[in-house]
Amino acid sequence: MERNDSGDSRQYWEETSKEYQSVTRISINDFHYGPLLPGDSQVKALPEKLEGLRCLELGAGAGQNSLFLASQGAECLVTDISEEQLSHGEVIAKEEGLKLKFKQLDLDEIDPEALGEWDFIHSTWALPFAEDQKSVLQKCAAMLKIGGRLHMTTGHPVFAGEWIQLDDYEEGMFVSNYFEPPREVRFTKDESSFIRTRQYPISTYINWLIELGFKIEKVLELKPLELELLNGDELLKCMPYDSDVWREMYPQIQKVPFVVTYIATRVS
Ligand SMILES: C[S@@+](CC[C@H](N)C(=O)[O-])C[C@H]1O[C@@H](n2cnc3c(N)ncnc32)[C@H](O)[C@@H]1O
Repeated sequence: MERNDSGDSRQYWEETSKEYQSVTRISINDFHYGPLLPGDSQVKALPEKLEGLRCLELGAGAGQNSLFLASQGAECLVTDISEEQLSHGEVIAKEEGLKLKFKQLDLDEIDPEALGEWDFIHSTWALPFAEDQKSVLQKCAAMLKIGGRLHMTTGHPVFAGEWIQLDDYEEGMFVSNYFEPPREVRFTKDESSFIRTRQYPISTYINWLIELGFKIEKVLELKPLELELLNGDELLKCMPYDSDVWREMYPQIQKVPFVVTYIATRVS
């Protein structure tokens, strides 16, 4: 597939980063799985011992998840295609006195030999931007130590449908083709660049992971927190990824998961 079939991720994210980081409230005090979802302080899916763990984050944005892991004593490398995104993370790391490494890296150009071995590889909603998602997972397998853990949070294929009003009382997601969901196209404000994302069926990811030598530990389809039951302070503590735009979409993500997380251990 030609790179320009998927748009230009780098240009799109360099242009979009400032807005993304200013409208999205992403905590560094917890590990997030996606918008309005509980953080790992409640989900409890991270490896038990974080101190000294060698962690690699792919498509990290500013790397708030890595910043959290580093605050718990992990050794973290934060990677993303966008230098703007990474420099936002570098500022936070400096402010917080946290030591992490940052590296500009395209998911489609990972060189396992150059990056070395890791105990934990994690990524939150970046895989759908890669041209060759299976190859990204294959390289994750190559970079993980045996027994190492992968947390791959990606777009849920059912959410790639269209939200429709059925009648006065009912609305829901219309999925025209689960096996080949339509690709989402996003443009920058001035329409000078765009990106296209791709979702695959859940069974495709699971079978890829098994084929690549992983044991699936858990698949998470998390429900958002009950916004109306929590006050502002509670929300700040337990919901590490939030924005006004996502709050407007709360009725939708209460019914259909926006993300799915594959948690897997490399066994061979
Ligand atoms: C929706 S944001 C998520 C960022 C971060 N993981 C978070 O949870 O805040 C998607 C990220 O993927 C990055 N990205 C997009 N295409 C990429 C690629 N081909 N290689 C590496 N990163 C990419 C973008 O720059 C952006 O930071």
